[in-house]
Amino acid sequence: MIAENIVLLVDAIPIPIIVIGQNDRIKAINGPGESIFGPHLTGRPHVSVVRQPALVSAIAKVRAQGDRQVTRYVNRDGATDIRYRVAVAAAGQDIVVTFEDQTASEEAGQMRRDFVANVSHELRTPLTALLGFIETLGGAARDDPAARDRFLEIMAHEANRMTRLVDDLLSLSRVEEDERVRPKEDVDLRALLPSVIKGLEPQAKAAEVTVALDIQVPDAMVAGDAGQLVQVFANIVENAIKYGASGKQVKVTLVGRTVDARLRAEVVEISVADQGEGIASHHIARLTERFYRVDSHRSRQVGGTGLGLAIVKHIINRHRGRMQIESEEGQGTKISVFLPTSQLS
Ligand SMILES: Nc1ncnc2c1ncn2[C@@H]1O[C@H](COP(=O)(O)OP(=O)(O)O)[C@@H](O)[C@H]1O
Ligand SMILES: [Mg+2]
Repeated sequence: MIAENIVLLVDAIPIPIIVIGQNDRIKAINGPGESIFGPHLTGRPHVSVVRQPALVSAIAKVRAQGDRQVTRYVNRDGATDIRYRVAVAAAGQDIVVTFEDQTASEEAGQMRRDFVANVSHELRTPLTALLGFIETLGGAARDDPAARDRFLEIMAHEANRMTRLVDDLLSLSRVEEDERVRPKEDVDLRALLPSVIKGLEPQAKAAEVTVALDIQVPDAMVAGDAGQLVQVFANIVENAIKYGASGKQVKVTLVGRTVDARLRAEVVEISVADQGEGIASHHIARLTERFYRVDSHRSRQVGGTGLGLAIVKHIINRHRGRMQIESEEGQGTKISVFLPTSQLS
């Protein structure tokens, strides 16, 4: 092939690529390749450019034996390392080297492993407790009715915790699955919010928190999935009750309809404000990660799984909305959800 054609061809390829000529010098390199190895490399000996031994030896092998080799290359120049899977192949007298960025798939793999480790850990703790009590009930506490009752109560508590965890895991996998399917029902938030709050009355009472609802909009129809929206607000209001201060108030406000510049849509805004201890700013961005909790011990004590806000985030994404968390330590937290209004109304 004529050299000029090779340059055109290489430039059209979106992933980093280098062509090494018969004289072991660089014959062509495209823009993405230059962003790894630098500019003005044509004509330079490839060994002075591609310095990592694994790649140099893969190129030498292909030069000696023809055919192809696969190896790895790590670019450590940027803020984070980029890992490439590199294919080296003979093309006539030339050698073609292509680089596939593996960072995203490696990160996804890492996330999957972390997730499995987290789930196992969360399940093991209540299981260990249960096994311990079963043993005690079979032995030392067999003939002690008072101890037996107390242990059974703790066992029920631990078993409930496992049930909640499994329920949340299933919920999470379901919402992830249909995240790309647009919800179609017309949901009236003016009716949905009071029923969510009513459902949380026992918890509010137990925590000595009053929940006030202020509806400031005559019409709040959104295109949504009613069951999922109940999940969203139940999670957020429940958090406000759990992590808000006892004896204080949680305020739920529904306002609208305004145009949201970020979403470029007409929206209603539902905000839930508590007067609890608040959240330090460095935690805020991470709250929607699975199992991320500011204080795991406290969260477990109040029956949390650490999955609530992860589920909330997926549901809101599915509804093309957004969530905003504002908090001041010692003052309280305000979580706002912006949902596009239904086209029909
Ligand atoms: N209103 C709030 N005030 C203070 N912290 C909160 C509030 N809402 C959420 N958080 C923090 O965010 C974490 C994650 O919330 P979530 O995903 O619902 O998990 P869970 O409620 O099961 O612990 C909580 O563990 C808590 O540390
Ligand atoms: Mg929660």
